[in-house]
Amino acid sequence: MQKLFALLKRQETQIILLIGFLSVISGGAWGVYQTQIPPEQPLQFPHNIHVGLQIQCLYCHPGAQRQASAGLPTQQKCWACHGQLKKYFQPAVPVEQWPPELQKLAAFVKNNEPINWVPVYQVPDFVHFNHRPHIAASLNCETCHGDMSKKTVATLEQTVNMGWCINCHQAKTIDDPEKRIKLLDCGTCHY
Ligand code: HEC
Ligand code: HEC
Ligand code: HEC
Ligand code: HEC
Ligand code: HEC
Repeated sequence: MQKLFALLKRQETQIILLIGFLSVISGGAWGVYQTQIPPEQPLQFPHNIHVGLQIQCLYCHPGAQRQASAGLPTQQKCWACHGQLKKYFQPAVPVEQWPPELQKLAAFVKNNEPINWVPVYQVPDFVHFNHRPHIAASLNCETCHGDMSKKTVATLEQTVNMGWCINCHQAKTIDDPEKRIKLLDCGTCHY
């Protein structure tokens, strides 16, 4: 796919033909992925409780501001808080009496086993999405991911397809033709 896009950039006249072709070969597989939602997570993480406690999105997903990937928290990050909550430690409540999802968390920590969160939002590997410029342009997480204060585990709010990216890039550059050229250029997202 990578090589294909390099080729696309050089021979722009063939693009239209290729889009049709690629839709046929890759559209199917991608479509299947997007219907399998929400995925079963190793642990049901309640966003609503944590966002309700005023914990910032960036505390758990710090990459969103500075890099391509927002990142997901490790169990150490969870435990920095959960290992100290008065409710469970002062006085100590036996782990067997904790809520089931917190028992799972305690087991991941005790066994030093990573929590393999299942991706919800994902672009195919021939697309490069970068959080940083979007946050720098003052877009809210909510614009693309919905209101997490009302969700437990993350669900797909928005079908992630090229039309969605392009529509917004067009809408945001109505007054800036130069930026529009850049944001609609194939090579901006495919390289
Ligand atoms: C900054 C502190 C903090 C961090 C970080 C944090 N939590 Fe929590 N979490 C809380 C507090 C406070 C509660 C509410 C207290 C309670 O009822 O247990 C809570 C509640 C929960 C609950 C619901 C428990 C119930 O009563 O059913 C789960 C499950 C949970 N957290 C899992 C996690 C996981 C997994 C992580 C890491 C991805 C995490 N938490 C990170 C503070 C935190
Ligand atoms: C312009 C739309 C957009 C905005 C705004 C946005 N995201 Fe995303 N987010 C995406 C897309 C698209 C993906 C899939 C990226 C991929 O597969 O590389 C994603 C993936 C993620 C992921 C999982 C994968 C990863 O990157 O680690 C997390 C977590 C996430 N976003 C959190 C956030 C948070 C927190 C904010 C706000 C600070 C935010 N996003 C703002 C579109 C957006
Ligand atoms: C205490 C930590 C914590 C906080 C605070 C938090 N999240 Fe998350 N987030 C997680 C964990 C753990 C997952 C993985 C489980 C899941 O997908 O539900 C996750 C998953 C996500 C995903 C899906 C990632 C993927 O795989 O595509 C998005 C989007 C997301 N969070 C956005 C947000 C936004 C927006 C906020 C703020 C309103 C926020 N989160 C606050 C811990 C947190
Ligand atoms: C809700 C609006 C919105 C959506 C949806 C969106 N973008 Fe963007 N995108 C922006 C804005 C605004 C900028 C920053 C423009 C600027 O430089 O001010 C941007 C910038 C970018 C850049 C950086 C361009 C550069 O300057 O090099 C890339 C790459 C990009 N977007 C890819 C994507 C992809 C891929 C998707 C879909 C998966 C997507 N965007 C969805 C609004 C959006
Ligand atoms: C703003 C980001 C962005 C720009 C600009 C962009 N694309 Fe895409 N493209 C995507 C995303 C995201 C996908 C994957 C989701 C999908 O298939 O719709 C994709 C998928 C594709 C596919 C695979 C189609 C399929 O159905 O799987 C082709 C071919 C493609 N793009 C060609 C192009 C060409 C040619 C251009 C320039 C005219 C272009 N793209 C510009 C984001 C972009």
